[in-house]
Amino acid sequence: MALIQQCLRVCNDVAPSWAGGQEDRQEFCVREGLCAAVEQSFAWAVGQRPVIESHGAMLPSALATVCPKRLALAVSFCFRKSVERSVAALHGQRVLLGVSGGIAAYKAAELVRRLRDAGAEVRVVMTAGAQRFITALTLQALSGNPVRTSLWDEAAEAAMGHIELARWATRILIAPASADLLARLALGRADDLLTTLCLASEAPLAVAPAMNRVMWAHPATQAHVGTLRARGVEILGPASGEQACGETGEGRMSEPQVLVDALSATLVPQRLVSKRILVSAGPTFEDIDPVRFLGNRSSGRMGFALAAAAAKAGAEVTLVAGPVRLATPSGVSRIDVRSAAQMREALLSALPGQHAYIGAAAVADYRPAEIATQKIKKGDGPSSLVLERTVDILAEIASHPQRPACLLGFAAETHDVETYARGKLEAKRLDGIAANRVGVPGQGFDADENALKLYWNGGQREYATASKAAIAAGLIDWVADWLERK
Ligand code: PMT
Repeated sequence: MALIQQCLRVCNDVAPSWAGGQEDRQEFCVREGLCAAVEQSFAWAVGQRPVIESHGAMLPSALATVCPKRLALAVSFCFRKSVERSVAALHGQRVLLGVSGGIAAYKAAELVRRLRDAGAEVRVVMTAGAQRFITALTLQALSGNPVRTSLWDEAAEAAMGHIELARWATRILIAPASADLLARLALGRADDLLTTLCLASEAPLAVAPAMNRVMWAHPATQAHVGTLRARGVEILGPASGEQACGETGEGRMSEPQVLVDALSATLVPQRLVSKRILVSAGPTFEDIDPVRFLGNRSSGRMGFALAAAAAKAGAEVTLVAGPVRLATPSGVSRIDVRSAAQMREALLSALPGQHAYIGAAAVADYRPAEIATQKIKKGDGPSSLVLERTVDILAEIASHPQRPACLLGFAAETHDVETYARGKLEAKRLDGIAANRVGVPGQGFDADENALKLYWNGGQREYATASKAAIAAGLIDWVADWLERK
């Protein structure tokens, strides 16, 4: 006991200066990093190979070098317990992880670990292709369960093992899901153990596609994805970025933590049943002439994540989307628009009967005063562009006779975030405002993750860096709280 107290003192001495913040989530990240890093140093101290854990690098080097073996073990134990409490979102879930063939199969190792950290029991099924990239032994060691690789395993199938496994799963996640696997799933084939299990199970299925960007964009793949989505399969990702083949584009498997967050988000309590939620997302494009426009960097991901989270909480969701290339979240009605004027019209016509409006769209504040009907030529074009203000849709909805019971705006700021956000909360007479810093890499516009602070009269809440799906789930929880109090 004295040893554990000593450990906690050491960690508490280190954590605050390292964290630079007091919020739960930040504290969790720090503690997770601390825990993993201490495990790392412990593993080194007893002469084992280092524990593979990226957060390990966060440990202040002083602690890493001075931490004695027993101290490290106890610290690791204490903080692992803290981590388990913090992230047991998937507690009690039995996740069947399918791994198909692709270079991203190596990420399955970390995924198994993250799923277990989140409280899930994990069993792995690998396709023949997956076994060319990662061994069953690795995934068996990490999952703590035997890995199944074949439908023709005589011992397992003596007791109809595939049916038992199909019934055991409360969730099926296939990551990575190759183009071939998506095609076989879409066709309802049962030509190996994994596809057979998917046909034989009633558990919700999620897939994390991973493939070369051209393969992902191919009409055949997109048609299969469309079929799967229409069948209720959750498509997680893919992410965009550098690919193993050397190309850059959409097709990378989403990171393991993003997948775990997304899976956790599907377990949200149905707090918005019989509620109608209106969401705006994406940029608006303000045309200058038939080929040019004024736009912004919004990808629509934040707003789409909010619409998805609200639908998962049981709401009837209408999503008014600016020009983005994102798939419609399942169960959401979508209206596509281009300009601020079109967005205003669509939002106002959808307004009657809504319980909440969430304005995540980056609506243009200005538009060209005139739109040229023909392409403006270099020679005869004006050297300056005359702009006029667009209508502030959020402010208009706030003073509308059909104002919803909950009005949640967003503030995208590069500096003085709190001051400007609170100013908008007041000036636009909102119930809440979600303030995010933009102009920094990895959050805000066109990123998979975000970090924001939510302000309302009488309170505030911080959402530290996490996937937009996870942050959206938190914001939707706040909307549900607000509506319950009304
Ligand atoms: O789309 P992503 O790539 O995922 O990026 C997410 C995001 C950064 C766009 C999102 O998180 C966000 O901050 N959205 C609001 C962006 C914005 O326009 O902020 P603003 O501070 O300029 O506007 C304040 C609020 O007024 C917003 O709710 C906006 O929707 C609304 N507004 C603004 C102008 C206008 N003419 N009409 C409006 O309704």
